[in-house]
Amino acid sequence: MPTQGSARHPTVQRARRPTESANLELPFGDTTPPATAPPLVPPRPTLTLLRPAAAHCHACPLWEHATQTVFGEGDPVAKLMLVGEQPGDTEDRTGRPFVGPAGRLLDEALAEIGIDRRETYVTNVVKHFKWTPRGPRRIHSTPTAPEIAACRPWLDAEIAAVHPEGIVCLGATAARALIGRDFRVTTGRGELLASPLARFVLATVHPSSLLRTPDEEQRREGMRRFVADLAKAAAAIGGGEGEGEMGAGGSKVAGER
Ligand code: URA
Repeated sequence: MPTQGSARHPTVQRARRPTESANLELPFGDTTPPATAPPLVPPRPTLTLLRPAAAHCHACPLWEHATQTVFGEGDPVAKLMLVGEQPGDTEDRTGRPFVGPAGRLLDEALAEIGIDRRETYVTNVVKHFKWTPRGPRRIHSTPTAPEIAACRPWLDAEIAAVHPEGIVCLGATAARALIGRDFRVTTGRGELLASPLARFVLATVHPSSLLRTPDEEQRREGMRRFVADLAKAAAAIGGGEGEGEMGAGGSKVAGER
């Protein structure tokens, strides 16, 4: 059972199956050896070096049907990193993460807790848009385990460069990649989990799941819980509403690395 901690000093739970960042263990039980990006990742990478290097990544076939690599963006020393699954249609066209409908909902949720997303670093597990055609539309298609593994060195390099205090996984793909393949967002959401990747990792739903909720009452409740999860992560780094500037405080957590 999770322990509660106080609002100012939330307790970090131990992740059930942390995935070591250097270990390219494939999630979802796939054993296919991945093609990966390491040869492209510059030594001692900074975001300035990583972004142009990732622009030429052909480590998996997704680049062939995508417009461009969508690399992460935001504060290069952000205390909070938000990780989604992969760029969508708008992100693919603009080259920026979370700028479509799901991104607008994310911005709204962050605004509710007094956080400007520019104070965070926003990225995705997979950096190319995977889609299938349906008439004139490009429909999101879930990335496979080998595609996720191939792209993983970019995310690991972003985490190493930004060195966030906390990472929020937006949706199941990010949560399984960063917490463990058995992780379930439905049961594990909103918990501060100790991790080798950052002081804590917290998973919540993907904002696009809220956009897909047809019932308005349920959508409102979903948004309320999404905002509460983000608020918990923000509070753990001393940010968000009533806590002053993001990153100004920072709560010490028992058992932290
Ligand atoms: N969904 C994601 O997971 N990431 C984006 O950048 C946009 C939509």
